[in-house]
Amino acid sequence: MLKQNKEMEKIISLCKQRGFIYPGSEIYGGLQNSWDYGPLGVELKNNIKNLWWQNFVRNRDDIVGLDAALIMNSKVWEASGHVGEFNDPLVECKKCHERFRADHLEKEECLSCGGELTESKQFNMMFKTFLGPVADGDNEVYLRPETAQAIFVDFKNVLQTSRKKIPFGIAQIGKAFRNEITPGNFIFRTREFEQMEIEYFIEPPTSDKDWEEPFDKWVKQIYEWIKLVGIDKKKIHELDVPSGELAHYSKKTIDFEFDFPFGKDELYGLAYRTDFDLKTHEKHSGQDTKYQDLETNEKYWPHVIEPSLGVDRTVLAVLCSAYCEDGDRVVLKLDPKIAPYKAAVFPLMRNKPELVELAQKTYKDLRKKFMIAWDDRGNIGKRYYAQDQIGTPLCITIDFDSLDDDSVTIRDRDSAKQERVKIADLESKIQ
Ligand code: GAP
Repeated sequence: MLKQNKEMEKIISLCKQRGFIYPGSEIYGGLQNSWDYGPLGVELKNNIKNLWWQNFVRNRDDIVGLDAALIMNSKVWEASGHVGEFNDPLVECKKCHERFRADHLEKEECLSCGGELTESKQFNMMFKTFLGPVADGDNEVYLRPETAQAIFVDFKNVLQTSRKKIPFGIAQIGKAFRNEITPGNFIFRTREFEQMEIEYFIEPPTSDKDWEEPFDKWVKQIYEWIKLVGIDKKKIHELDVPSGELAHYSKKTIDFEFDFPFGKDELYGLAYRTDFDLKTHEKHSGQDTKYQDLETNEKYWPHVIEPSLGVDRTVLAVLCSAYCEDGDRVVLKLDPKIAPYKAAVFPLMRNKPELVELAQKTYKDLRKKFMIAWDDRGNIGKRYYAQDQIGTPLCITIDFDSLDDDSVTIRDRDSAKQERVKIADLESKIQ
């Protein structure tokens, strides 16, 4: 456990030093496990989100996208059950008054001082705020605790404009907010995070097989995603959530757990939500939320399979999978698809104008197509060291021979092997 926490400390420290992730509000002493993505972190996170969007929306005919408002009519959350059911059990230490999630405690005593705990009470995790200048009950609204509900609320609009036929899905990426009792473990559990969710609509099943088949297909697609984004599959474990612990809307959920340095915990969830959501929104809004089959004229509430992926947990699992130590050398073996920089360009020496000129030209040409780093500090060894730590797959050095033979030395991050490549071939090499 100690070794594992050391690994976590190293990852957090690398993230801070290299500009991936910093503590939020740091100059004011931070703010309870909030984190900010720096210049490299935002590239990594955007690359992950774009890869997901490309894979699940753009490459497919059966899934369309949505980007809905973050604050929704409060009736949405009454209908969805979040006002009544989205609770965690809260206990408080009678001595030091620290608060904990009861279901996260191994012993019935305070983790900080060993004091006696209060009885557990239900704590609703939605953040409240007010719309407009008057802070009264009528204007009370919630920050969304999941992106999913907007997909159900917009279901008819999307259906009418996209003309999709069952089975089809609606995808959304966006922020969600939960007033977690005990946020922690770096970006694993925060109060503000991002989700990538799909609600996949299927015909009402006439037997279990009818929903189990598409559900199992989604299990496979989650594994394909895990491979695509570069998460170590050996560290993934499936947890079939016991029926007593299922969310109020779910008939079956599989949690995809990952061996994080602090222990095994939930990375993603896949849930069979039945027709709970569309049905409850029809009941509460008074509006028809059914799907109509245009061939048979049959009307029904589709059932829903929901793969729900946390963006920040993906970033963390990707970082943990990519982090390698080789003697003194630290290498972030990120999949090139999501690495912040695809290549770095160096002039061998910074005080030789002819080298700098050719290196700058090469850098600027490649920059039109790819995210490219420039580095002319220190010696080549130090530059390799720095690029390895941020996961740049290729380093390109312009040397004196380059001036004559229009070739450069390319060095591969993972093998540290070097080869000569024509400048004209660099673009296809990086691609
Ligand atoms: N719409 C279903 C839903 O929201 P969930 O299991 O509560 O299901 C889905 O959340 C995913 O969102 C999780 O598997 C995780 O990746 C991410 N997630 C949930 N709470 C989080 C938190 N406090 N911090 C970071 N990520 C979180």
